Amino acid sequence: MSALQKGLAKAGLAKATLHLFLCIGPDCCASSEGEALWEFAKKRVRDLPLMRTKAGCFRICTGGPWLVVYPEGIWYGGVTPERFERIVSEHLEGGRPVEEWVVAKNALGCGV
Ligand code: FES
Repeated sequence: MSALQKGLAKAGLAKATLHLFLCIGPDCCASSEGEALWEFAKKRVRDLPLMRTKAGCFRICTGGPWLVVYPEGIWYGGVTPERFERIVSEHLEGGRPVEEWVVAKNALGCGV
């Protein structure tokens, strides 16, 4: 297996049904808060068929940490490990966004 194939396999591209982007600060939240959430999120979704990406900034820069779920384009602000756990259970695994925490929706024309 080539280095490229290994990288794609490690990223989970072939089996992914969702892609999570998580902004971990430093302007929308404290970097320590964002890093703690990122570490929690990595472990929590390890066995799920999705990709995850740590983002540096979504240009919102307040009200974070931010989580966006594609292809649905569901945006959650103020994500804590406790909230992330519920988002995983109800949205990522259960298929129903946690509407009370959804700040914005934009599927970028994907028609989801
Ligand atoms: S630092 Fe998170 S949106 Fe800018």
